[in-house]
Amino acid sequence: MRLSRYFLPVLKETPREAQIVSHRYMLQAGMIKQSSAGIYSWLPLGFKVLRKLENIVHEEQQRAGHLPMLMPTLQPAELWQESGRYNDYGREMLRIEDRHGRDMLYGPTNEELITDIFRSHITSYKELPLTLYHIQWKFRDEVRPRFGVMRGREFFMKDGYNFDLSKEDALHAYNRHLVSYLRTYERMGLKAIPMQADGGPIGGDYTHEFLVLAETGESEVFYDSKVLDLHLGDREIDFDDVAQCQGIFDEWTAHYARTDETHDDAIYAEVPEERRQKARGIEVGQIFYFGTKYSQTMNATVDDGKGNKVNVHMGSHGIGVSRLLGAIIEASHDDKGIIWPEGVTPFHCGILNMKSGDAEADAACEAIYNSLTALGLEPLYDDRDERAGAKFGTMDMVGLPWRITVGPRGLKNGVVEVTCRRTGDSEEMPPEQAVEKIAKIYAGIA
Ligand SMILES: Nc1ncnc2c1ncn2[C@@H]1O[C@H](COP(=O)(O)OP(=O)(O)O)[C@@H](O)[C@H]1O
Ligand SMILES: [Mg+2]
Repeated sequence: MRLSRYFLPVLKETPREAQIVSHRYMLQAGMIKQSSAGIYSWLPLGFKVLRKLENIVHEEQQRAGHLPMLMPTLQPAELWQESGRYNDYGREMLRIEDRHGRDMLYGPTNEELITDIFRSHITSYKELPLTLYHIQWKFRDEVRPRFGVMRGREFFMKDGYNFDLSKEDALHAYNRHLVSYLRTYERMGLKAIPMQADGGPIGGDYTHEFLVLAETGESEVFYDSKVLDLHLGDREIDFDDVAQCQGIFDEWTAHYARTDETHDDAIYAEVPEERRQKARGIEVGQIFYFGTKYSQTMNATVDDGKGNKVNVHMGSHGIGVSRLLGAIIEASHDDKGIIWPEGVTPFHCGILNMKSGDAEADAACEAIYNSLTALGLEPLYDDRDERAGAKFGTMDMVGLPWRITVGPRGLKNGVVEVTCRRTGDSEEMPPEQAVEKIAKIYAGIA
C-alpha cells in the first residue's frame, strides 16, 4: 500500500474523549471513528487489524476441530422466553419490534439460537461431540460504554458452543478450548492468564476468564507470579488427546490466579509472599461449562445408545475480538504510538522515503516495495510529499514493527536503514539485505 493512496486520517490533536492510551491511539492513528456512544466505524487500518485477529481466531478454532458457521445478529424473542433469559437479561438487551409486531432482539450472545439449531437436527449420541462457533457482531446496551472498543455497545465476538454426551466429554471440550485460547493469544503476542471466574448471567460452575495484565484493566486480579513463566510455545498439540489437554489445563491452573469476584484470601495466603501479585487486567475471553442448563429448558436431547433420551452437556466460549485491539495496544505501546506484535501488524514493514521526488530515492523505495510484495509481504510505503519529521511521526504512531528508511545520503553509500519499532535500534545495510532481513523475521508468522 502506498500512503498517498490510502485512507489514514491521522489526527494531529489528542482526542479529548479518550481516557486510556489504546482508545487515544486508535483514534489518532485513524483506525476507528465513533458513530454513537460505544458504536464505531472501522476505518481501513483498524479494519485490517480486526481481520487479522479474526483470521487467527478462525485458524486456531479450526485447528482444535471446531466448526465455523454464521448466525444472525437479530434473534426472535421466543427462544429467550423459552430459556427464561428474556426477562433476566434486563436493559442490556436491545429489544426491537418488527413491522408485524413480533418481538426481536439484537443478540448479546447465542446460547438459545444455537441450542435451537442443535435440537432441530441432532437426535443421536453418534453425532457427538460437536462444537460450533461463529464470529459475529453482538450488541449489549452497556450502562457505561467507555474506553473505545474495549467496552463498546456493539462489539465483535467469537462465541462457540460445545455439545457432548456426558459431563466428562464436556470437560474435555472445556480443556480443549482453554488450550486453543492460549495458542490464540500467544500468536497475537499477548500473555493472557486464565483465571477462575464467576459465571454471571450465562451461569455455570466451571468458568475461567483470560486476562491480559494492564493498569487500565477493569478487573482486579490476584495471582501467583509463577503463572507468568508459562508458555505454550510451538509444542505439538493433539486436541483429541484428553490427557494432553487435561495436562495443559492442570499446568496453567496449578497456580493461584483469580479475579476479585472469586478471590479467596485464605487460599491466596498460601502462596509464598514474594510471589503474591495484585494487579489489574483486561478480560479478553471466557470459557464456561454449564451442563444441561439450556438443554433442559430448551429440551435438547439425544438418544444415548441405550434407549434413553438424555439432555446434552454444553459449554460456551467467547473471545472479544474487537476488544483485543485495545488490549494489544494497552500491552504494547510507547509514548510515540502503537507497537504492533509481528503476528497482528496491519502491514509488515514501513518504507519511509526521506526525499520523495528524488529520482534515486524514489527508485530505491519502489524496488524495495516490489521485492517485499513479491515475497508475499505487505509494506506500507510513505511516498507522500511531506517533511521527513511528519513521516516519522506517522510511522511511529501507526506502529509497524519494522521500518526501512531510504534517503539520498545513505544511498550514496549503497545503504538503507532498518529500524525496529520496539527497541528503536537501527542498522544500515544494502537494500537487498534489508528485504531479506524483513522476510526472515516474518518466515513462519505472516
Ligand atoms: N461491551 C463489550 N465490549 C467489547 N468486548 C466485550 C464486551 N463485553 C464482552 N466483551 C468481550 O467478549 C468476551 C465474552 O463475553 P462474556 O464473557 O459473555 O462477557 P462479560 O464477561 O462482559 O459478560 C469477553 O471476554 C470480552 O472480551
Ligand atoms: Mg466474561
